[in-house]
Amino acid sequence: MTATDTAASPGGEARPGSTARDATRAARPTFDPVFRSIADVQGWMTRDQACRLWDRASELDPGDAIVEIGSFHGRSAIVLASASPAGVSIFTIDPHGGNDRGPHEFEGYEQEAEQDHDIFLANLEAAGVRERITHLRKYSSDAVDEVPGQVELLYIDGAHRFAPALEDLRNYRDRVALGGTLLVHDSYSAWGLTLALFATMALTGKFRYVGRSQTMTQFDRVDLTPADRAANCIRQLLEVPFFLRNLMIKVLIKARLAPVTRLLGGNGEWPY
Ligand SMILES: C[S@@+](CC[C@H](N)C(=O)[O-])C[C@H]1O[C@@H](n2cnc3c(N)ncnc32)[C@H](O)[C@@H]1O
Repeated sequence: MTATDTAASPGGEARPGSTARDATRAARPTFDPVFRSIADVQGWMTRDQACRLWDRASELDPGDAIVEIGSFHGRSAIVLASASPAGVSIFTIDPHGGNDRGPHEFEGYEQEAEQDHDIFLANLEAAGVRERITHLRKYSSDAVDEVPGQVELLYIDGAHRFAPALEDLRNYRDRVALGGTLLVHDSYSAWGLTLALFATMALTGKFRYVGRSQTMTQFDRVDLTPADRAANCIRQLLEVPFFLRNLMIKVLIKARLAPVTRLLGGNGEWPY
């Protein structure tokens, strides 16, 4: 089931033979109105990426758990909470501390950060999902013991520099339950995060690289055979050209040559 497949979308009509679970799903909100409702929530998540988050969250069952690292103003958290069935617990982690706030905003945003936290809570409230979410206002490295031991969906969109990104992957990756999903934003775009991703995921026997929506990658928690591992590593290496293209686009934008990015399939904007 995908958010773009209207006939089978959570808000679609129940079809003959559908189960009680389908009926429960049909009572839930649908993707398009939720996505429209977050148009003014600041953030960097594209529509395709929101679709992917929606689809993975809507597949969960009551009792499952979602952990999001990096929430900012709540754009992705609102999608996760709106898509997931009642009974799924949702933990969001963000210190709103003024560091690694967004592109080019690594340090020195303490004043904005206090506002970010208030805006985040107000946005959750306005979306009607405040009660669904347990927010941990902490650095992810300090929140490891406060989230469930096993999570079915882990979304990493926190600090993108190499050291904290590596720490997030190392600290949280093994929490993903067999059959669960890991999504990572700004993959093959933010260079520190991308190096951390290659370091932890290229040779792993525990996650299959599924694909991406622009820079949001999806890894499924499975047990890979040695042959699968080789293919999995190759699938990730095939993204190196996309990574180099994104780095080139960033260099061009910084050099005030944004229109030239069209030669690389860009649109003059920072790649997300
Ligand atoms: C790119 S934004 C997240 C965007 C959000 N996922 C959305 O869709 O709107 C990155 C966020 O990560 C947070 N952050 C920075 N360092 C962090 C850390 N060590 N642990 C958790 N969050 C962190 C920042 O405060 C910022 O709000």
